[in-house]
Amino acid sequence: MSSRTSDVLVVGGGIIGLVTAWRAAQRGLTAAVVDPEPGGGAAQVAAGMLAAVTELHYGEQTLLGLNLASAHRYPAFAAELTELTGHDLGYRRCGTLAVALDADDRAHLRELHALQRQSGLESEWLSGRECRRLEPMLAPGVRGGLRVDGDHQIDPRRLTRALLVACERAGVLFHRTWARRLRVVRDRAAGVTTTDGAELAADQVVLAAGSLSGRLEGVPEALLPPVRPVKGQVLRLTVPQRHAPFLSRTVRAVVRGSHVYLVPRESGELVIGATSEELGWDTTVTAGGVYELLRDAHELVPGITELPLTETRAGLRPGSPDNAPLLGPTDLPGLLLATGHYRNGVLLTPVTGDALAHALTTGELPEAARPFTPGRFLKSVEQPA
Ligand code: GLY
Repeated sequence: MSSRTSDVLVVGGGIIGLVTAWRAAQRGLTAAVVDPEPGGGAAQVAAGMLAAVTELHYGEQTLLGLNLASAHRYPAFAAELTELTGHDLGYRRCGTLAVALDADDRAHLRELHALQRQSGLESEWLSGRECRRLEPMLAPGVRGGLRVDGDHQIDPRRLTRALLVACERAGVLFHRTWARRLRVVRDRAAGVTTTDGAELAADQVVLAAGSLSGRLEGVPEALLPPVRPVKGQVLRLTVPQRHAPFLSRTVRAVVRGSHVYLVPRESGELVIGATSEELGWDTTVTAGGVYELLRDAHELVPGITELPLTETRAGLRPGSPDNAPLLGPTDLPGLLLATGHYRNGVLLTPVTGDALAHALTTGELPEAARPFTPGRFLKSVEQPA
């Protein structure tokens, strides 16, 4: 049995865990990550839309504040990571066009537009013809849309690679194994025991294991994060050079109640997503999922059927009860959370890294992140009679 000590041990090496370890190390803390495959996780599947405005929902104005704060940090965050690592992140300030195909979709989009304007967000209503002028590949049946120039994109796979390099350069240590159990010593989180029997000691532990975050043994029942897996199937197509430019910005819609989006990258990759399925830990790519995505995307952009289909994959979003993340200290000293980012993990990466680094060094969340404290879901523990 080995024992290694760090100031901070991050459980989970997806983008949220990596950005937390990197930012902590930049602040002078010794940081380690425990994950059998750092750089894996939902970001390997995600399309990478930075969709604070087009994914706004009623009742989620508090989350909007955090989403906008993170979107605002993206240019400097991406520039810093690229400067440090030499990796281009595919950060593309291309904007988004949300379109409607029928009267119901149009009514839905009109409501979204009203909500966006009430919230002080920039979004412009366009006729079907104006949409097609912007994106000539759109179907003739498009009845109108919202032009949101502030919703951009990044390539999550490139972001992951850059974060791995940034962590390595900052001296973050990687333990390529599973964390099995949280170690609690004198009422304080003190590290984890791994599945291969090692004890990794740390002054503070950050649980950042995405949809798996509720499964670490040894976390007191009342503090287990209430995250659940929400499956998303995603397709990747390739736009051959002769077809370029196919789409110049992200195009999305709600078709018969399901979200579909097409995210064009400068590399020629065209990402089509995503299903949203409550099926536990299942990550099977199904014929039905692929069919529905292609059917809906084809209604928006008929020309996609010409393109090679290069990849189909499913990932698990870490859903939380209010669709917002759980950030910062818990009631167990030394245990912090960075999980439950649901549909916004890529968008929220910069602000999460900053918030967790602040919490790890000061013991408190910065103002912008305070509404997302894990305490809002605290379960009452029954007292013995
Ligand atoms: N934010 C896109 C998705 O979760 O599918």
